[in-house]
Amino acid sequence: MTTSGRAEIRWLRSAAPYINAHRGKTFVLMLGGEIAQHENFAVIFHDIALLNSLGVRLVLIHGSRPQIAQRLERAGLTTSFHHGMRITDTATLEHAKDAAGSLKTQIEALLSMGLPNSPMQGSRIRVCSGNFVTARPIGVLDGVDFHHTGKVRRIDVAGIRRQLEEGSIVLLSPLGYSPTGEIFSLGLEDIAVQCASAIGADKLIMFSESEGICDAAGTLIRQCTVGEVGRLEIPDPDHAALLHAARSACLAGVARSHIVSYNNHCALLEELFTHDGSGTLVASDNYEQAREANIDDVGGILELIEPLEQQGVLVKRSRELLETEIRLFRLLERDHRIIACAALYPFAEERCGEIACIVSHPDYRGGRRGQRLLRELEQEARRQGLDRVFVLTTQTAHWFIEQGFVESSRDALPGRKQSLYNLQRNSKVFFKTL
Ligand SMILES: CC(C)(COP(=O)(O)OP(=O)(O)OC[C@H]1O[C@@H](n2cnc3c(N)ncnc32)[C@H](O)[C@@H]1OP(=O)(O)O)[C@@H](O)C(=O)NCCC(=O)NCCS
Repeated sequence: MTTSGRAEIRWLRSAAPYINAHRGKTFVLMLGGEIAQHENFAVIFHDIALLNSLGVRLVLIHGSRPQIAQRLERAGLTTSFHHGMRITDTATLEHAKDAAGSLKTQIEALLSMGLPNSPMQGSRIRVCSGNFVTARPIGVLDGVDFHHTGKVRRIDVAGIRRQLEEGSIVLLSPLGYSPTGEIFSLGLEDIAVQCASAIGADKLIMFSESEGICDAAGTLIRQCTVGEVGRLEIPDPDHAALLHAARSACLAGVARSHIVSYNNHCALLEELFTHDGSGTLVASDNYEQAREANIDDVGGILELIEPLEQQGVLVKRSRELLETEIRLFRLLERDHRIIACAALYPFAEERCGEIACIVSHPDYRGGRRGQRLLRELEQEARRQGLDRVFVLTTQTAHWFIEQGFVESSRDALPGRKQSLYNLQRNSKVFFKTL
């Protein structure tokens, strides 16, 4: 097998946990009209088709701002904006309808592709669109009549869910209908946020021209919580608007909002199937944060591990020892409570590391939190140039086997570890090649 073949297989293996995690989940994807004019348009839709084949339930919301602007220009019409919103008079509405209809058809065509030797070979995707969004007029603001510019009034949750249940991709255009039978042009972010929260989506994913959201220093913000968003200084108004939408969705119950680039054709899959992601992730505040431990966490970790030390599952660690080794620990925190921890002790000379003290709180078992920390520590071990990790265990052997560890002999341990081996505990030794 070629080196690239091996790399692909390694990548597929590393993506497997994400594939399992995303299956059956609902993602709302917001795609601005500019994507349709970008060379990555087709690739992004092939990736969307791939997500559909992996069992992700998808709602797509496309915009059409640049297309409307082009149509208006061609027709020699000008429109005005107020509070950043286009005023949609009757003539403009005609162009908004044309732009949305044309783009919707283009997207449906892309998702219907199934040519041999194309990434969509063998796929059969059903796309469904309709009157899922009920709108109301914005009305008159500061004396300015917005005519056919509207706001989302209601989302047909049952209708969308039924389509998703049947495996269809739901495609929404930036138009809504009022109970009076009128058509309204709607803000893309408005539909995305309202729809994601109403249908209880697991993720809202928004596409941006840049890698993600950048702060005042121009640095990409990889991850932040809803609480942190307010403290960030975001000079770019487009970035600020996306971040605001991400925050609103999280406040309305969506666990995670992502902002990824449409300029990078790998960004969507990288964000969803790799540990580091590619863009910006905004997580709701009560979401669990994984982070390195610091000295203030010693008390919380002791509380978590002491019952297991008493049961003989873990080796006893004194507070002093934990204080000196705290930097080796990684933990999961939820509502300021430590609910899982694990440590990586590197043996640089032997190019291996020990995974130790891996525990998830009994109240939070069943959420694969131990597994999540293990993956993160394996990543860290790779970063430190280690080739293998090992573990000594008395009662958790099968769990480690399921995580890809293989039983080994005590002699395989680094010399320093062998001399400390506690014969009485008679722990089993397991290694995993990274
Ligand atoms: C091992 C541990 C960290 C796994 O945490 P987790 O990833 O959050 O795991 P979950 O609670 O989601 O359980 C995942 C699976 O592992 C299984 N599992 C948990 N403990 C196990 C054990 N000791 N042996 C075998 N399987 C085990 C669970 O039954 C579950 O299986 P299922 O998916 O078939 O239902 C957690 O069970 C724990 O804290 N155990 C006590 C501490 C411990 O033994 N640490 C290892 C010291 S060497």
